[in-house]
Amino acid sequence: MLLAGRVAGVTGAGAGIGRAIAQALAAEGARVAVTDINEEGAQETVRLIEAAGGVARAWRLDVTRRDHIVQVVDAIREWGRRLDIWVNNAGVSTMNRFWELTEEDWDFNMNVNAKGTFLCSQVVARVMMQQDFMQGGELRGKIINIASMAGKRGNAPFLAHYVASKFAVVGLTQAMAGELAPYKITVNAVCPGYVATGMQERELRWEAELRGTTPEAVRELYVQDTPLGRIETPEDVAKVVVFLASSLSDFITGEAINVNGGAWMD
Ligand SMILES: NC(=O)c1ccc[n+]([C@@H]2O[C@H](COP(=O)([O-])OP(=O)(O)OC[C@H]3O[C@@H](n4cnc5c(N)ncnc54)[C@H](O)[C@@H]3O)[C@@H](O)[C@H]2O)c1
Repeated sequence: MLLAGRVAGVTGAGAGIGRAIAQALAAEGARVAVTDINEEGAQETVRLIEAAGGVARAWRLDVTRRDHIVQVVDAIREWGRRLDIWVNNAGVSTMNRFWELTEEDWDFNMNVNAKGTFLCSQVVARVMMQQDFMQGGELRGKIINIASMAGKRGNAPFLAHYVASKFAVVGLTQAMAGELAPYKITVNAVCPGYVATGMQERELRWEAELRGTTPEAVRELYVQDTPLGRIETPEDVAKVVVFLASSLSDFITGEAINVNGGAWMD
């Protein structure tokens, strides 16, 4: 198993991509701290992991609240004795034409997606900087940020504020990677494309309304925009997170890896 003996934390792991990531990390032997603002969702993820023979525990964590993060990260350390892997996955979206976006849209997206990644990473980095090297490895810790295709491709209709928040995540990934490398902590991002989750279901409805069409027609646009010809699954993303969390990727840092079926290449 690629992650035997490792302790991992995942934000927004009560649904969608975060749940798949938590399950995939646990399946490779990591003990997983499943965190989400929605505690019931986090508990359901833990049930799924335990049913598959893995080890996990749930915490309610709002990534926009520094006090929460400090408290929960402390509790995770007590539970796991250390913290090897942290995945900043929690994210939100709303959709509107640029000229109709509100300050609430901007603040909501920036707060969860960009500031949440900053706050969690800072608290976690301080812990990782002071811990011993991972067993059998040359690193102290690994931070993985779930950015988006919209973190590289600005031309994403109705998502200007979300695009700004995800470009921020990619930039922050590079800046943190540079500053944390001397402490032997890697920081990388994953940029998914059109992934079938609750977030996508909401976006299909909003985009259909904005375009005056149906959610099914919008889903077809997403498929047409994806050279590999299908909607992405949360597991497509989780597999790459496992790679970044494992020692197979120990010399990679500051990268933002596209996992999008070819929908955006750079
Ligand atoms: N679905 C896609 O097409 C897609 C594409 C690219 C990137 N992403 C990114 O992947 C990540 C996961 O998205 P998803 O599609 O699984 O979304 P989702 O809405 O299905 O799940 C998101 C989870 O995050 C949690 N969350 C929301 N606000 C939070 C907060 N303040 N603190 C802690 N948890 C919070 C929610 O409770 C939920 O469980 C997000 O960062 C998203 O931007 C998604």
